[in-house]
Parts: sequence; structure tokens; C-alpha cells
Amino acid sequence: MIYPEQVIEEVRLRNDIVEVVSGYVKLERKGRSYWGLCPFHSEKTPSFSVEPNKQFFYCFGCNKGGSVIQFIMNIENLEFVDALKLLAERAGITLPESEDPKERERAQRRKRILELNRLAARFYFNNLVGENGLEARNYLQRRGLTEKTVRKFGLGYSPTGWDELTRMLLENKFPEDLLLDSGLSIRAKSGELIDRFRGRIMFPIFDIRGNIIGFGGRVLDGSMPKYMNSPDTPLYNKSRELYGLNYARMSSSKKLLIVEGYMDVISLHQAGIDYAVASLGTALTKMQGWILKKYSEEVIIAYDSDAAGQAATLRGLEILEEAGCNVKVLIIPEGKDPDEYVRNNGPEKFKNLIDRAISLLDYKIRVRRNMHNLDTVEDKLKLLNGIADILAEHDNPIERELYAKDYAQKYGISYESLQEEVNRRISRRNRAGDYSASVREGRGRSLAVRRDEETDTRYSELEHMLIVILCQENRLFKLISEKYGLESYKDRKAGEIARKLYRKLEENDGCVLAELVSDMDPGIASYLVRLSQTKGDIKEPEKAVRQILNRLEIMKLEDLQKQTIERIKNEQDGEIRQQLGLEFSIRAEKIAELKKMI
Ligand code: GTP
Ligand code: MN
Repeated sequence: MIYPEQVIEEVRLRNDIVEVVSGYVKLERKGRSYWGLCPFHSEKTPSFSVEPNKQFFYCFGCNKGGSVIQFIMNIENLEFVDALKLLAERAGITLPESEDPKERERAQRRKRILELNRLAARFYFNNLVGENGLEARNYLQRRGLTEKTVRKFGLGYSPTGWDELTRMLLENKFPEDLLLDSGLSIRAKSGELIDRFRGRIMFPIFDIRGNIIGFGGRVLDGSMPKYMNSPDTPLYNKSRELYGLNYARMSSSKKLLIVEGYMDVISLHQAGIDYAVASLGTALTKMQGWILKKYSEEVIIAYDSDAAGQAATLRGLEILEEAGCNVKVLIIPEGKDPDEYVRNNGPEKFKNLIDRAISLLDYKIRVRRNMHNLDTVEDKLKLLNGIADILAEHDNPIERELYAKDYAQKYGISYESLQEEVNRRISRRNRAGDYSASVREGRGRSLAVRRDEETDTRYSELEHMLIVILCQENRLFKLISEKYGLESYKDRKAGEIARKLYRKLEENDGCVLAELVSDMDPGIASYLVRLSQTKGDIKEPEKAVRQILNRLEIMKLEDLQKQTIERIKNEQDGEIRQQLGLEFSIRAEKIAELKKMI
């Protein structure tokens, strides 16, 4: 049984590796990673790490590594398919075309609900454009939505009667239990089925492939509740979906802007900011964080700036950071929401706000700053301590110092005391024993070279490195694929992996390393993860890529030189020998030039 990639990826995304591993290994958090005693070899001090942001594990002692799927394969001694089944079951996912009749039925049910949703969306849309939709049409117009936008997002209007949709669906021979399962109908006290959504503007919720998996419905007036959403169904799980991602992932921008509401997404897309998405009226979840990371280079949060919004922003930032996203915060003046702001001020002004989005650190400090009014010495001390707490969490020492100077000046506190407080916190933490760094630097390095008999190792490692970096920085796809197309790969395995990766990136599907290795043989998965872990996070990926490409090219040219020398030796015809000699010297010049660039 070969499962579609999306299914494998869904199983991976819905099983947090930290949670899964914790079922087998006692983990302790140190900095960004979790550490424990490796279950795959015997040891007394932990060298087994789990990276929550990258969603993979790696043991610096025995070099085993991979995604949650390889972890289960290794620890339960299972084949890929069985590991997948185990994890699917754990997350309550139905695998397609399973032999299990119960599972087959569930898959069938999901299909039927999709069909129902499609019909319902069409029904709501027809009602919006029909004679009963006048009030709703006026409402949407007042909110500035064009007809084109209404169509693009498939908006509709649910009739005000009790059971108009339900009746239509029953007449079309859909059974009652399916209507209930889909969340479109509910059972009234009388026992009859009635419509869940009545007299509301309907927002179909699309999954990434454009299937309608649920609905949100908004009242036209000020009555409560303002929104009603589909309940969780076999298709729809609000902790996983991001409204608008089906469009946003096709945007040419590598950013994703995360906003609070349906209307914000729609309004921004209409204004040409086609990379906005919304979480559906709930706090951001880890799973959404991983998805955002997968589809973007940078995530910008644009929540309301009221107190609730600020709290949500801070929580959201934590989650996104944990998921490994590169996050910024956009601040909308005068506490407006993005929809209002873009409507009143136009797209250009909004784009200015995007350009001025501030870093996570700046935002945290800003929130902290607003907690005190700095009139008294005591307040200043509290702020100084607060800033020191935040700075001490920051990894990069040079930046830490720069920021400390900056904030000290800005808030009129002493730079020396701030720096002292920061250092105190860091050394306290170091005493508590953060050995992740030492393991990485000490033991990691000695492992860096491994002989791979099968192919020419010189190419092999560089080509796999390209793949690892490309997973880390999807934005480098154009650069890499232009200079090093699939036909360039010398290592057969690297070539196969690259084919999958290039295809995903061409289709605008983001790809992270854990995803890429998910369905691979544990050996090769370990190898890739090891490269990623022991070579460390590459600080200047673009430069690294250029160097690797350069070295690959030199190697290829040098191989050609060797062949040419052989041919010259064996060639009888003087003219051809001369021709070959010329080729040789031109190539030699090129090699010399390339070497200068390293
Ligand atoms: P407008 O008020 O029309 O501009 O909509 P909005 O999308 O800007 O809504 P708002 O900022 O008030 O809320 C953000 C999101 O939270 C909405 O898009 C909904 O997903 C969700 N939400 C808001 N109010 C409710 C509610 O009463 N019930 C539920 N379940 N969700 C809500
Ligand atoms: Mn709004």
C-alpha cells in the first residue's frame, strides 16, 4: 500500500514528536531542545535530542535521527506502513483504502461530507445572489467587498427559515446522520432536523487543496453570537486549519500574515495582500505553527492591539517561535483591525506597516515597557529586570549587547546594570547545566566525516548538504535549481531526494526536513538529519550554497580534466590531440577562476 504524500504529512503534522518520544524516553528541556538517554544505544549521559521546532530527533552518540515516523519505526521495530498506521491511530486519522472495513467506512463518510459541503456552499451562494439575498448583498457591499471577492471566497447567505438547507439535502436522499455529522443540521427539541446556520453570511472554510471542510457564519446585525462555526467533524478540526491558506500559499510572497478574522483575510486579499491567513477564532496551536513554518519564510502577526489582542499576540509568538518560524509583529495604529485599516487607508499604507513590523524581541520589550509608567525609581528597576529577563533568553550575544545599549538609552536606564543583570541570568542558567551546546560542538564535529562506499563521497556529501539547506531555506530554491538542476546530481540517492523536494517547491508546497525524510529509509533519514545537526544551523545559507555549488562545479571540471588527460595520452591523431589540449587549458583557467572565488 502506497500512501499519498499528503496523508503521510498529515500523520506527521498531527503527532508532535516531543509528545510521542516522551512516551518512551524521559526528556528534559534545555534551551530549545529536549534531551534524554538514547533508547537506541546504551549510555549514561544524554546525547539523544529532540528538536521541537524542527520536529526531528537526533542522537549525537549513535547518529540515529529522523522524523516522528522513523522514531516509531526504530523503537517499535516496525515497517514504514505499520509505523504510519500506529501514528495515524494515535492522532485519530483515517488512512485511505485501508483493509480495515471500519476505516474504509470512515473514509467514505468523509467523502460524503465533502459532497454535502459543496452542495451547501452552492445553496448558500445561490441564496445570496437570489431574491432573498438583498439585505446580505447590501451588507457585503457596505463592508466594501466586490462581487469578484465574494465569488473568490465562495461567500453565501443562509436562509432565515428553519430548515431550508436541511430539507433540500434530505430531498436529495442524504441520510439524517450524515447531515448531523457534517454539522450543517442540528436536531431540534421536537426531534426534527433544522439548519445550524440561519440568516448568516456564510464563509466556506477551505483546506489547502480547496475542499470545503466547514463553514463560519456571521450575523448581519449586532446580535449574538456574532459568529457561528462548524463543530469539529471528521473533516474539520479548527486547531489545524488556517483560513485563506489555500490562496496564500500560492502567493509570490514568502511571507505569511496572520490575522484574527475572516473579514480581515478577505479584505486584505482584495487589497492585493494575498498572503494573509487567519486562525479560526481560537488561539494559535502548535500544529498551525508548523504549517505556517512550512509555507513561509517569515510570519507576521497582525492581531488587534487591544489587551486581549496583545495577550493573544504574545501567546501566538511563543507558539510560532517554538515551531521555528521567523516571526515579526505588525502594529496597527489606533487599535484598528487590519480590515478597517486597509479599507480606510489603502493597500500602500498597509504595506508600509508590514515593512515596519517589529521583531519578536522588540515587541516583548514594548509590551513590558507599557506595563510600567517609569515615574519612580522602583518602576525603572522593574523594567530593567523585565528587560534583562527577556534579553537573557536571546541566543545571540552580539545582538544581546546591541539591544541592551539601545534599550538602556531609550528608557533611560543604566547600560552597565542592565548588562550585569543579563549576564547574571545567563551564568545562572549555564550553571544549571545547558550541555546541548557542548555536545553539539565537541562530539558533533568529530563525527562529521563518514565514508559512504556506494558513491563518490565527494559529491555525495555536498549534494546532500544542498538538500538540507534548501529544506531550511526554501527561498533559495530558484538559485539552487537554476545552478544545479536535477540532471546535475551525481549521487543517485541525493538525486532522488532532490526530485521530490524540487517538485514540492515548484508546486509551491513548502517543505521542511522532517517532512522530506518522513517516508525514507531510516538510514538515509539519519544521514540527512545528522548533516543538519552536526553542520549546525547555517548562519549565512546563501553564501554556503554558493560555496557548495562552486565546489561541485570545480569537482566536475576536474573530473573532466582527468578524462581529457587520458584521452590525450591515447590519441594518435595530432590535430585532435591539439584540440583536446586547448580544451584542457581553457578548462584549467576556468577552474583557477572558480577556486579564487572560494
Ligand atoms: P467583523 O466583525 O465582521 O469585522 O469580523 P472579524 O472577522 O473581524 O471578527 P472579529 O475580529 O470580531 O473576530 C475574529 C474571529 O474570531 C472571527 O473571524 C471568528 O472566527 C471568531 N469569532 C468572533 N466572534 C465569535 C463568536 O461569537 N463565536 C465564535 N465561535 N467565533 C467568533
Ligand atoms: Mn473585523
